[in-house]
Amino acid sequence: MSILPMPALEVAAGAVSGVPSAWTVPLFIPSLPAFDVYQQRLQQVSASGTFTNFGPMLRAFEMALAEGLGVSPTRVVGVSSATAGLTCALLAVAERGGHCIMPAWTHSATPSAARRAGLEPWFLDVDLETWQLDPTDVEERISLSEAARVAAVVLVSPFGARIDVPEWEAFADRTGVPVLVDAAAGFDTWQDSRLTSVVSFHATKGFGIGEGGAVLAPDDSTGLRIRMATSLGMDSNRVAVVDGMNAKLDEFRSAIGLAALDTWQDVRAAILERSRAYFVALHRSGLSFRRPYGLEDVANSTYPIALSGPHAVDMIEALAQRGVHARRWWGDGCHRVPVFVSCPCEGVPVTDALAARVIGLPLYATVPLAAIEYVVSCLEEIGREYEHR
Ligand SMILES: Cc1ncc(COP(=O)(O)O)c(C=O)c1O
Repeated sequence: MSILPMPALEVAAGAVSGVPSAWTVPLFIPSLPAFDVYQQRLQQVSASGTFTNFGPMLRAFEMALAEGLGVSPTRVVGVSSATAGLTCALLAVAERGGHCIMPAWTHSATPSAARRAGLEPWFLDVDLETWQLDPTDVEERISLSEAARVAAVVLVSPFGARIDVPEWEAFADRTGVPVLVDAAAGFDTWQDSRLTSVVSFHATKGFGIGEGGAVLAPDDSTGLRIRMATSLGMDSNRVAVVDGMNAKLDEFRSAIGLAALDTWQDVRAAILERSRAYFVALHRSGLSFRRPYGLEDVANSTYPIALSGPHAVDMIEALAQRGVHARRWWGDGCHRVPVFVSCPCEGVPVTDALAARVIGLPLYATVPLAAIEYVVSCLEEIGREYEHR
């Protein structure tokens, strides 16, 4: 998701072409802390003369994240983006040259990270209830496939939804294949496990700092290997001994991260209140829709919904005419993204169905509750128009 195409940076009551007294509802407004909340820390960075390379602000940010998760700080690695973090995690845990199983229903960042880590993405379908990979299906594919050597499985937590950790830990134990979680939007559901997981701190996430992310490793030694990978694979003598890239999180953004942790509980409460407002309004509306399992009471940065009625493209256009900005988050699915069409994929009907139906509605800490009522009333109106065509 991008914040670029949004002209209005506030939700304002006003006339939208053809729709009197309507709202203009942007897709997203970032909830980064106000400048005065992090100003002092930025001054500290400036005065210290240490701007990057595992400085004190990054260490403090990682410690605070680790404390929140109840894990050793060695296991938490701040990174310059979730994409870079996933790449480094794959470099650290997966053997080069194999396939990387992942859902077709994801952001291009997931296969892009696999490619950067020397792996060939292999797209599988997702389950209709969870919108995630199904461990039984993945295990069957691995056992039946003679052609592919599977070096890793990357699960994707769709829009921050919870994943079934015990089931996937058991999968990893049984198959011996490393399992990583692309939980880019999952800061609110991030938890300790024996899987390697990656979250994004992009400005458009519920917990945002601008650009950034973090990896949670299953143990200290994996954490150290991932950290090395974020610094060109260099050891303490500054000699590159393993594959890596530059994926370090700098001191300024770590400072903003510390400030964002200070304000997170307020942001989270505001997002959850708005997510519940969608839930109530949608259930009252009588609209026919689907949401993935494990996403209620999660503070994330869009309200994804699969609606019956018009195709997602037409739905978004009809919403835009009413001043509501929505988005097809993952387009037609990664198996149809030009740069990944050559990757193995044996048909993904659920992904195709979701791609045709799922739209992300505006959800952020400052979207007014009345705007949410308005969005749902627009969906109802569009649904009625569709039925009477
Ligand atoms: C599933 C998924 N993975 C990775 C990313 C990329 O995150 P980042 O922008 O921090 O690299 C996104 C971005 O929204 C995403 O949705």
